[in-house]
Amino acid sequence: MPDDVQRPAPEKLPPGAARCPGPLWDDFMAADTRPVPDFLKGEHYEYMGSEPLHTDRYVSQAFFQAELEKMWPKVWQFAARNEELPEPGDYVVYENAGRSYLITRQPDGSVKAFHNVCLHRGRKLRTESGWAADFKCPFHGFAWETDGGLKNIPCRWDFPHLNESNMQLPEASVGTWGGYIFVRDAAEGPTLEEYLAPYPRDFARWKPEETYTAVWVAKVVKANWKATAEAFMEAWHTIETHPQILPYTGDANTKYNVYQDHTNVAMTPFAVMSPHIDPTGKSQQWIVDEYIRRTGRGVSADTTAVVPEGMSARAAMASTNREIYGQLFNRDYSGYSDSEMVDAFTYNVFPNFSPWGGMIPNIVYRWRPWPDVDTTLMEVRILFRSRPGEPIPRAVPMRMLGEDEPWTAAAELGGLGEIFQQDMANLPYVQEGMKASKTQTLELGDYQDIRVRHFHRTLDKYLAAK
Ligand code: FES
Ligand SMILES: [Fe+2]
Repeated sequence: MPDDVQRPAPEKLPPGAARCPGPLWDDFMAADTRPVPDFLKGEHYEYMGSEPLHTDRYVSQAFFQAELEKMWPKVWQFAARNEELPEPGDYVVYENAGRSYLITRQPDGSVKAFHNVCLHRGRKLRTESGWAADFKCPFHGFAWETDGGLKNIPCRWDFPHLNESNMQLPEASVGTWGGYIFVRDAAEGPTLEEYLAPYPRDFARWKPEETYTAVWVAKVVKANWKATAEAFMEAWHTIETHPQILPYTGDANTKYNVYQDHTNVAMTPFAVMSPHIDPTGKSQQWIVDEYIRRTGRGVSADTTAVVPEGMSARAAMASTNREIYGQLFNRDYSGYSDSEMVDAFTYNVFPNFSPWGGMIPNIVYRWRPWPDVDTTLMEVRILFRSRPGEPIPRAVPMRMLGEDEPWTAAAELGGLGEIFQQDMANLPYVQEGMKASKTQTLELGDYQDIRVRHFHRTLDKYLAAK
């Protein structure tokens, strides 16, 4: 591994071109025991300036209101996974940014999204996800078919002015990709495929449509939704916030790629020692032992994996993961690179969705204002791969942690619970700190914080639009 790579001093480089000393993600990839797909190679970095961000973006009611009016109605939002509503009549109540939707499976297998509001006097038609033969309002009994057509008006004589055509439930736009169902309030805008590019091409290799929600944990966080999301956009807080994972996390070796307005990714090598720790006396076996002890996601902490003489921890851990997941999901992982079997590919979709890539059980984040400028609902899912020939299991229900329950209370998260608890411990103080700030400015790193800057550049485009 070229850990003595000579690079120009940071001050000699154009802004954003400096990288942490030591190997880059692509250097690890070059040592992979399998071919790594081309779309993972190379840099897609773009310098976007070094101006500070204003704290108003996170604490101002006026800014929050502008997001509600100008951004949320125009974006594709991850609303549900297919396995939450597999059968006709299944529906999911998805709520965000002042809207409520009924995501509903149709008899032909397609999905429609209706505004979840009775057209009589405005009661929400449903408050919980479930199955329905029709959507009958619990107030006076107006009813709609599951395709949104009017079914019944009680005391029909009193509503001569209403008919089938003016009483259809209003629909939102729906798009599907990789087992994910998206809604958009606006009828016009980019197609979902355009919006997600290049993911439909890249994820074709990882087939997220074969996966299902095996773990789903949520908690209300006392911080702005963007501040919360941004805590998961860079890996370099690991050194201070998650020191226990440094033995097997190449935090500062992470590659940050930005694509078009709505998409970017952080690629963090795992099963390598952080450049921040002293490697003296540390073996490749130690890296693997630490990785297994804390990783979770279907790898139990009592798993053993011996690193043969001369083999890297990455190669050994990838081999172990191929075996563990091969057995667990009855699939053949032999063609996937070490990188796809160990690394973190934290993809983001603007504004509030992060589906991890790669072939180990994928983590998925979603962040929603809950419901105000100071509060977020953070959800974490882990998607397991279905077994060939068997039906895709239904999604587990979302487990909502109480205000006083730590993320470690969700044993199904394994070692991730401790990590999320550490992240969440920062966030209320981030929000309080931004409110208390004298300068009202936030200074970003040119490289490692680029996804934060990219996010705000895109947000500004929405806010500036007429
Ligand atoms: S509010 Fe729904 S039937 Fe009256
Ligand atoms: Fe973190």
